[in-house]
Amino acid sequence: MLIIKKNEVMTEEEFGFLRDLIHDEFGILIKGDKRLTLHTKVSHRLTILGLENYRQYYEYIMADASKKELYTFVSHITNNETYFFREKPQLDVFSDILISIKRDKRIKKEKRLRILSLASSSGEEAYTLNILVHESGLFLWEWDTKIIGIDVDSNAIRKANEACYTTNSFRSMNGEAAAYIDQYFNKEKDRYILRRSLTTNVEFRLGNMLERQAFEGIGQADVIFCRNVLIYMSNEAIERFASNLYDLISDTGYLIIGSSESLIQKTNLFLPEYKNGIIVYRKNLSIQGH
Ligand SMILES: C[S@@+](CC[C@H](N)C(=O)[O-])C[C@H]1O[C@@H](n2cnc3c(N)ncnc32)[C@H](O)[C@@H]1O
Repeated sequence: MLIIKKNEVMTEEEFGFLRDLIHDEFGILIKGDKRLTLHTKVSHRLTILGLENYRQYYEYIMADASKKELYTFVSHITNNETYFFREKPQLDVFSDILISIKRDKRIKKEKRLRILSLASSSGEEAYTLNILVHESGLFLWEWDTKIIGIDVDSNAIRKANEACYTTNSFRSMNGEAAAYIDQYFNKEKDRYILRRSLTTNVEFRLGNMLERQAFEGIGQADVIFCRNVLIYMSNEAIERFASNLYDLISDTGYLIIGSSESLIQKTNLFLPEYKNGIIVYRKNLSIQGH
């Protein structure tokens, strides 16, 4: 009979395997001795899968070519904290950027807009960007406008697709932004459901932004938001990420990362530019064949 030692704490060696796996695949650094924390977060997976220890769990993940368990594993580790209209000063700059994008596209006679929300979590950021695009009134009618959110956490992606939120997701909305709640959401008991007109051009994908295939079929992006995820990553992973983004973003595009994050001295593929006191990143066009 198989005896499952449910609460057997992870050994240091097992912790090392799993920590390195998370870093190599997703770039996420687990700093210090987080053995107990990791054990608490994933021990139920051993029970569910009928495994005896974390070495078996590691082997199970490695043998699964579909990467399903790898994604389940990472979803228990990531921090999904997010809310609508987060870091308003950056969003004001985004609204200004939309005006200059419209100007450039008019000259190029192009009517396609692609905005990415990388590490989109449950979708609040992607939908915030869509509300601002909508409010700008610049990309109506025959414009092909798409906002694409990508995250490694399948639960977050499911929530994002449902577009159904509680007041917790509106905690930073005040002033003008607060009026958007009545304007763009239908209230049902304690739930707020984003109106369909604001969801149809938004798509969410399960994917790892360190892998190029996460971006397949997107084409050139005009603006990429990637906020509050690089803080969890190693410099080596940030370099990999920057290299993926370099090819994805258009030569005139903008990259916006979290205000507590920086690419300075981590990559020379993007250069900082100040806009109303906010740092945005532009492609370093002097680099060829990076
Ligand atoms: C703190 S949330 C940030 C949400 C949103 N960008 C914001 O600023 O409000 C971090 C998200 O990054 C996701 N994440 C972590 N590593 C990732 C990776 N390699 N590729 C895609 N998403 C990742 C996590 O699943 C989590 O949902």
